[in-house]
Formats: sequence, structure tokens, C-alpha cells
Amino acid sequence: MQAAGMFEPRGPVAAEMTYLFWVLVVLGAAVAMMFIGLLVRALFREPPGDADENRLQRRWLVGGGMAMPALVIGVVFGFTLIGMRNTDLGPGSLEIDVIGHQWWWEVRYDGFVTANEIHIPVGEPVTFTLSSADVIHSFWVPELGGKIDLLPDHPNSVTLQADEAGVYGGACAEFCGLQHARMRLQVHAESREDYEQWVAAQQGGASEPDSAAAERGLEIFLTEGCGECHTVAGVTEGRKAPDLTHLASRSSLAAGTLPNDSQHLADWISDPESFKQGTEMPGADLDENDLNDLVAYLESLR
Ligand code: CUA
Repeated sequence: MQAAGMFEPRGPVAAEMTYLFWVLVVLGAAVAMMFIGLLVRALFREPPGDADENRLQRRWLVGGGMAMPALVIGVVFGFTLIGMRNTDLGPGSLEIDVIGHQWWWEVRYDGFVTANEIHIPVGEPVTFTLSSADVIHSFWVPELGGKIDLLPDHPNSVTLQADEAGVYGGACAEFCGLQHARMRLQVHAESREDYEQWVAAQQGGASEPDSAAAERGLEIFLTEGCGECHTVAGVTEGRKAPDLTHLASRSSLAAGTLPNDSQHLADWISDPESFKQGTEMPGADLDENDLNDLVAYLESLR
């Protein structure tokens, strides 16, 4: 997972938000410096005579207490309105449902489901409809934009766009329990062509086991009850845990917790608790052969 750069926006929404951030920093710093200046000046100044006192008090009350704050708040309000207008990209050319779970992301496209890794075409506005299956989460991809809360019973939506192809790291930005920090996601922004290729592969359903080991692995997958929680299209229909139909096409396991390779897959299946304490995934007590076969099956799900 690469570093998330909110100061390196790669899309119009993030660019606008970064601009607004700097406006607020500069304005806030100017006000703070002026205030400190006045404070220092007051320390070294002769106290005013009685005759001047009333006039000075009025001046500070009207100037410092009303005019100055009204001016500063007015400027911030103006920039905010412009920011709201510029971050409104309208309806996207593509709609994706993202559902937060403790602690992973369900990603539903028209016709297929995936998890934790979102693919979008570069240069096109994409509308994310965000909701939650349990507690409040927050969708944040610093280089593209966010944060928008995922609520259990009120879908929110946000339209974002990536101007450059690349893989953008994202994270849950609302404390949602023990493994809030391990609730990562990736947004892969790619050319229309690559995006459509990926969609075609995802729509293709699960591949058949490609070896004797994978064949046995499928049996173990079924007898161990993995399908109670996980969907493999055409094989099982669990909805509680990430869809595994194309697990091998993803780069990480457990929402960015581990890299997706055979060793980590085996370790994760045997003892998920040691990598992600509190996870809903139970460990499977398998001997080495069965574990290897199960891994072979999961790795055939490209
Ligand atoms: Cu989900 Cu924090």
C-alpha cells in the first residue's frame, strides 16, 4: 500500500480540497500572527488615560469583535461556496456501491461484486454510493477525495475523478472498532480499455479448478464451510465476508493487511486472529496437505 498523499491531489475534487486547505492555513496563520502582535504590543504599551478609555473600548469592540471576524468568516464562506461548486462533478459516467464492513470494503458493480480494490476509468467522473453493513465507516482516498461517512441506514454519495492513471491508496477515516487501522482499500485508475478488460474478466464468473490440488481444495472449501460467509460465483453464496470469485486478481488480503501470495494466504487461513485481532474470520484447523490444496484452489480464482 503506497503512501497516501493529500498534498498531491490527482483529481479535481482532491485538488479543490487541497486548495481550500491552504487558504484556511494561510488565513488562520495571518489571524494568529495579528493576534500575537497585538498581544505583544499591549504588554509594552503605557495604559491609556481615563479620557481615552471609552473611545478605545468602542473601537476594539466594533473593529476587533465584529468587523474583523465578519470579514474573516465572510472570506472563508466565499471560498467554501466556490469549493462546493467546484467539487460537484454531477452524476458520474459509472456508479459503484461501496458497503463498509468491520473491517473491509464490499464493492458492488453492475453485474459483479468484489472487495477492497476498486477499478475506475481514468478521466471520468465516478459516483460512489456509500453505506454500511454495521457501524459508521468513512471513505477516504486522499489523492482523489473524500472523506464521506458510510452510514448503516442512510446511503451517501460522492462523485470523484482520477486525472492520472495509477493506484491510489485509501483508508477508513472513522474509528470503527479494533481493526479500524486495517481497513484499507485501493483505487486502480486505468485507461477505458484496461478498465473494460478488467470488467469483462470480473463478469466472467469463477474459473474451474485448474489442477488436481485445486480440485481437492474446492472440496475442502465446501466441507470447511467457507461458503457460509464467502461467495464464489456459481459455487457458494455467502454475503458476510469478501466475495472470492476473483480473489487471485487482487493484490492484498484482509483489506490491505497482508500481500496476496500463497504463503500469506495459508497463514491467514490458519490463524487470521494473529494478523487481524477481532476479525470475524475463524481460523481453519487443516493439515498441511489440505491447507496447500485449499490455497491452490483460491489461487485458481483469477
Ligand atoms: Cu471502518 Cu474505520
